[in-house]
Amino acid sequence: MTHLIVWGAGELGGRVARRWLHTESAATGYTNTPARHADLAAAGITPRRGSPAADLTPDVVLLLSLPGHTVQQQAVQQLVESRAPVPRRVVFISVTGYYGSAPGPISEETPPGEGSRPASIALAEQTFWRWAGSAGVILRLGGLYCDGRGPYSALARRGKAGRSAPPDKTMALIHYDDAAAAVVAALKHPTPEPVYLAVTPPCPTRLEFYRAACHKLGLPEPDFDPPLGLPPAEFDVARLRRDLLPSPAFPDWRMSLVFSRP
Ligand SMILES: NC(=O)c1ccc[n+]([C@@H]2O[C@H](COP(=O)([O-])OP(=O)(O)OC[C@H]3O[C@@H](n4cnc5c(N)ncnc54)[C@H](OP(=O)(O)O)[C@@H]3O)[C@@H](O)[C@H]2O)c1
Repeated sequence: MTHLIVWGAGELGGRVARRWLHTESAATGYTNTPARHADLAAAGITPRRGSPAADLTPDVVLLLSLPGHTVQQQAVQQLVESRAPVPRRVVFISVTGYYGSAPGPISEETPPGEGSRPASIALAEQTFWRWAGSAGVILRLGGLYCDGRGPYSALARRGKAGRSAPPDKTMALIHYDDAAAAVVAALKHPTPEPVYLAVTPPCPTRLEFYRAACHKLGLPEPDFDPPLGLPPAEFDVARLRRDLLPSPAFPDWRMSLVFSRP
């Protein structure tokens, strides 16, 4: 039986730990505050605060699921400096923001997009590789959603769609449960690839998504700038389907309008 340590046992990390305990006997979840500890303990997950550096051994497996790539990078840097042993498998949660607004075909091999955010995400991934080496697996997740979290719930709270990105930018989405299933598979796979793109195509443009979401919520049509004429981003998830997530439970983005309550 393998012990899972989750650094960042929040919405995603907590789901991964719960799934882990379907077949394995031990999971420890590290958080920043004790707010989630009663829920984690009720699910059989040992709750802890702070850093797991002192608990790492070559026999455990580790998920890094802290909020945001900058915090993730600082966490890995801390592991390097503490000379923590590298567990036998380490999964690092990254984001499709790595690709920026790149249109056209996108796969694990596609280089980082232009701009400071993709560069900063790429730096976090490189720091991770330097520590984890061949034990490491990176999942680049699209935007996550579930009841009360994700773009639909945010729209319901705000009452209008943000105008921060062009209306024809492609939205990569994945349900928290599908992401958690893929992470568990990556923790257990005997010979995983180093990187997986984890989204559930077909993906809408922002205009398609927010039109449908506004309609469902009874809000006015989104007030977007004119489209830039961007070709859609086409995410190649063959590797994800083959190794980690053959049949997503939430295969269509429209399910985010049904299965995520405001
Ligand atoms: N949301 C998205 O659309 C999206 C898309 C792609 C990738 N991701 C990535 O997915 C991962 C998980 O996201 P999530 O939605 O599950 O996040 P979340 O619910 O906010 O969970 C993050 C967890 O990390 C804990 N944490 C924060 N700082 C910590 C620290 N210094 N030491 C120990 N624990 C700490 C938090 O503790 P508390 O419970 O005490 O707050 C929380 O339990 C993140 O890496 C995120 O960047 C998210």
